[in-house]
Amino acid sequence: MPRVFSGIQPTGEPHIGNLFGAMFNYVKLGEQYGKNAIYCIVDLHAPTNPAAYDPQTLARLTYEMALANLAVGLDPDKVIFFVQSHVREHAELGWLFTLQTPVGELERMTQYKDKAEKLESIPAGLLMYPVLQAADILLYKADTVPVGEDQVQHIELTREIARRFNHNFSETFPEPRAVLTIDALRVPGVDGQGKMSKSKGPSSTIGVLEDMESIWQKLRPAPTDPARVRRTDPGNPNVCLIFDYHKLFSDLPTIEMVNVECRRAGIGCIDCKKALLGGIERTLTPIQQRAAEISAQPEQVYDALERGANEARAIAAPVMEEVRQKMGFLGK
Ligand code: AMP
Ligand code: TRP
Repeated sequence: MPRVFSGIQPTGEPHIGNLFGAMFNYVKLGEQYGKNAIYCIVDLHAPTNPAAYDPQTLARLTYEMALANLAVGLDPDKVIFFVQSHVREHAELGWLFTLQTPVGELERMTQYKDKAEKLESIPAGLLMYPVLQAADILLYKADTVPVGEDQVQHIELTREIARRFNHNFSETFPEPRAVLTIDALRVPGVDGQGKMSKSKGPSSTIGVLEDMESIWQKLRPAPTDPARVRRTDPGNPNVCLIFDYHKLFSDLPTIEMVNVECRRAGIGCIDCKKALLGGIERTLTPIQQRAAEISAQPEQVYDALERGANEARAIAAPVMEEVRQKMGFLGK
């Protein structure tokens, strides 16, 4: 049976890019793979971005990320769902992998280059980030990794790390592959400045748990086709981020209506945005209601995460033992 692993960082409120790029997929794959679907809130990764790390908020953001995933429909009894730092083996395997990973390979990672460029002092952990990610996946000998397009390079590196380990210490790990959600490769940010991202802050994101009024305040001024200056100008939905969102949230007749009416200036951008808000409301309201219900009993979330960590450890511990032995460490 193939095994799925994926991780999500608790660096901010989960947004609709996370929802379509990752969280919905977690639920769907969870129904197929059951306890062979392993999902992790990667809190050891989060502090590699100094701008997003605050010891005062890390625990709360970790809890909220768990809550959001449960509210979206992840069933912790069906899958394995836990917090990375609760299973110490992640850090241990991450360290052992750093011993065989050339720094040059890590310096070539696009995400590293983008993030390092903005920093005056680069934490070594930012460079090691993808090594810890490889450890997350390989600790469970997972072969299937649902992620957004931005993570494909990290999964290629994971394959490289697995291959190198297998070559040096005998066949141990599978070579995992990324699985992408084709219709949500890169959900654009509502500010029109490229991909929606937690690290760009709330002006870029539409939160999964954000209230409709606040979402509307972001949609109303959001950029549309720049060629459509007046209400009477025909627009091109293919260059409009509002149309991208319609494809995620609206039903087929609405998408078709927008596609036709925008091109012949039959509807204006504000009407188009209102129609979108309706679709967003239909998708997010049930999730938000469920989140409110779960929040009333936070201990259920903590219990679920503890059970998840125990299940994860039961798989991770023997793999770790195998690695220690193959690498020649003195046994206990
Ligand atoms: P992160 O927010 O970087 O921890 O990403 C968590 C998951 O959501 C990863 O699988 C990402 O690839 C995915 N993701 C993040 N932002 C987007 C986006 N704008 N569009 C699609 N997927 C995304
Ligand atoms: N780097 C991933 C991201 O930013 C998060 C992550 C950490 C991850 N470990 C992982 C994703 C293992 C998949 C598998 O989205």
